Amino acid sequence: NKLEMELEAIEKGGYDHFMLKEINEQPRSIADCMRGRLDAKNGRLVLGGLRDYMNKFQNADRIIITACGTSWHAGLVAEYLFEEFARIPVEVEYASEFRYRNPVISEKDFVIAISQSGETADTLAAIELAKSKGATIFGVCNVVGSSIARATHAGCYTHAGPEIGVASTKAFTAQISVLTMMALMLGYQRGTLTESKYVQLLNELEGIPVKVEKALKMNSNVEKIAEIYKDSRNFLYLGRGYNFPVALEGALKLKEISYIHAEGYPAAEMKHGPIALIDEEMPVVFIATKDTSYEKVVSNIQEVKARKGKIIAVVTEGDTVVRGMADHVLEVPDTAEAFVPLLSVIPLQQLSYHIAVMRGCNVDQPRNLAKSVTVE
Ligand code: AGP
Repeated sequence: NKLEMELEAIEKGGYDHFMLKEINEQPRSIADCMRGRLDAKNGRLVLGGLRDYMNKFQNADRIIITACGTSWHAGLVAEYLFEEFARIPVEVEYASEFRYRNPVISEKDFVIAISQSGETADTLAAIELAKSKGATIFGVCNVVGSSIARATHAGCYTHAGPEIGVASTKAFTAQISVLTMMALMLGYQRGTLTESKYVQLLNELEGIPVKVEKALKMNSNVEKIAEIYKDSRNFLYLGRGYNFPVALEGALKLKEISYIHAEGYPAAEMKHGPIALIDEEMPVVFIATKDTSYEKVVSNIQEVKARKGKIIAVVTEGDTVVRGMADHVLEVPDTAEAFVPLLSVIPLQQLSYHIAVMRGCNVDQPRNLAKSVTVE
């Protein structure tokens, strides 16, 4: 009815869809997530939820991360973060697989469950299983008081605010923000991260919301690219290192809201199969920011170009090499390599959004999907 429609319009805050509103909210949601926790000026990082469990966390033999969908992608980013900064081995598991494969878990394991809704059935069951084996379970949830938040020993909320669109956007970047803070804290406490590097990273992290704001400015360029490729039947997303999970996330976003088949791959895996898919009809989204794998990604781009694939590249501001090779480039600000996903995912969220709108899809409530999957 009319009143309901008006109410919804108010909730959307002037945007056509919740998803677009939530994409644009990210500078604020990330800042909210870090507020009261990160104080770069004084070199301080406080995560209240971790206080009583810091000892267990620091001395864990292994970190096991369990989640589903986009939250699982955030877990993959965390694997790189924890291993790089804290030097503790990490396993990232789909909750649905973990719970049914009789995993080896002990009291020395620190299990992190990631869930926006806090109601995902598989993730909840994975928690119960790990708990029964004596592991410490830490939750990274968005919804306060949710089942997962209650089932875990301790946790840290993402404070992204309500996420209404089925496609997870601001929850993803908030999850990564929390996991980044955890990794930095852990690295510093364990001595695997020097004080100067720690302080330098805290400062960089504090500046991320402003950089996200800048990344969002690519929107009109993204729209033009969406117009060109909206009728494509397939998409490939490729990235390496920290951008590999971003490739997976970009592909998932496109699949779920625009119903275009998309695959994410670590760029180097292309030659082991997916390269056979490339022809002049295939748009390939490269996440090619300036980092340690940049040169390698550049050669992967050349391989796609030689096969006439269409190249859309997310690059670091000021990049000229990839610009000279790609059909389209989308720039994001420069940052520490470990923080790149917070920026490189932005244009991919926008790309899936615009393509879905242009195809007339129900962006906020895609077919066959629910916001929280409470059945297994
Ligand atoms: C993300 O866009 C999806 N809608 C989906 O993969 C989601 O991330 C997954 O169902 C997990 O949900 P959760 O974070 O609420 O546990």
